[in-house]
Order: sequence, then C-alpha cells, then structure tokens
Amino acid sequence: MNILDGKKIISTTVYDCTLIELPKVHNRAGSITIVENLTAIPFEVQRVYYLYDIPNGSTRGGHAHIDLFQLIVAASGSFEVVLDDGKLKRTFFLNRPDYGLLVPPGLWRELVNFSSGSILMVLASLKYDEKDYIRLYDDFLEFKQS
Ligand code: TYD
Repeated sequence: MNILDGKKIISTTVYDCTLIELPKVHNRAGSITIVENLTAIPFEVQRVYYLYDIPNGSTRGGHAHIDLFQLIVAASGSFEVVLDDGKLKRTFFLNRPDYGLLVPPGLWRELVNFSSGSILMVLASLKYDEKDYIRLYDDFLEFKQS
C-alpha cells in the first residue's frame, strides 16, 4: 500500500485524512454510489460495518487504530468526525453518501453530533482485531511519541 508515500504509520497527521468523492450514477429514480477496491479507494476492503440506532447526543469512537485504514461514509444523515494526531485536531462534517473520509491508522477519532436516524458506514482494510485498537488516550500519545 502506498497511501502514505512511505510515511510511517506512527507519524500520520490529520492532514493525511482526505475526503474522497465517490462515483455516483443518478437518474430520476434515485442514485447509486459505487466503491470498488483500489479504484475509488486506495486499499482493499476486508470488512464493512455500519453504526445505526444511535441515541441522540451519543459519542462513539474514542480510540485509534494501529494498522487499519478506513473509509467513513454518511450513508444516511450527518455526523462529525473529530480527528486528532496528538498535536492537531481536525473536524470533518459528513452528510453526503457520495463522499467518504479516508482515515489512515495512527489517528485518534471521535464520532459526534449524529443526526436522528443517521447511518455511519465504514469500509475497513482489515478484519476486526481488538489488538489493532488503542483505547486509552494516554497510550495513544505514548504511541505517537515512541
Ligand atoms: P468499537 O469499534 O469500539 O465501536 P465505536 O468506535 O463505534 O464506538 O466497537 C464496539 C464494540 O463492537 C466492541 O465491543 C467491538 C465490537 N466490534 C466487533 O465485534 N466487530 C467489529 O467489526 C467492530 C467495528 C466492533
């Protein structure tokens, strides 16, 4: 994978996150958005999951990943993704199913301000592995400095 141009995962910053416009086919009966491995996104998808039935005011996330790349899509409704590289924070507002936020590993994220009925879909580069998570912010800061 050459997404980070050889940059070490440990040194990713919030500026390595980008919004990707996904292909969209639209006609009077609605729209289709297509995501293909290595075409629309720069990694191979091993897992898809989605968050829904999110109670008003809930915050999710609150962790970082060591190796996982993700594309986060507002499949329905809207929410904010707050990214933190240990030095800088950057907030993305997602509200369009034809855009995805590419999040490389090594970044702390919080998912906030979900609209009612929203669906947050994640395309992920790896299967679920709890060992890939950093769940304590102090551990994350230590990881970034190591
Ligand atoms: P977590 O990733 O912490 O959720 P969020 O960041 O959205 O708050 O996952 C919540 C729980 O779901 C946790 O116990 C692990 C489990 N889980 C899986 O079993 N498989 C998965 O693919 C994911 C994403 C989570």
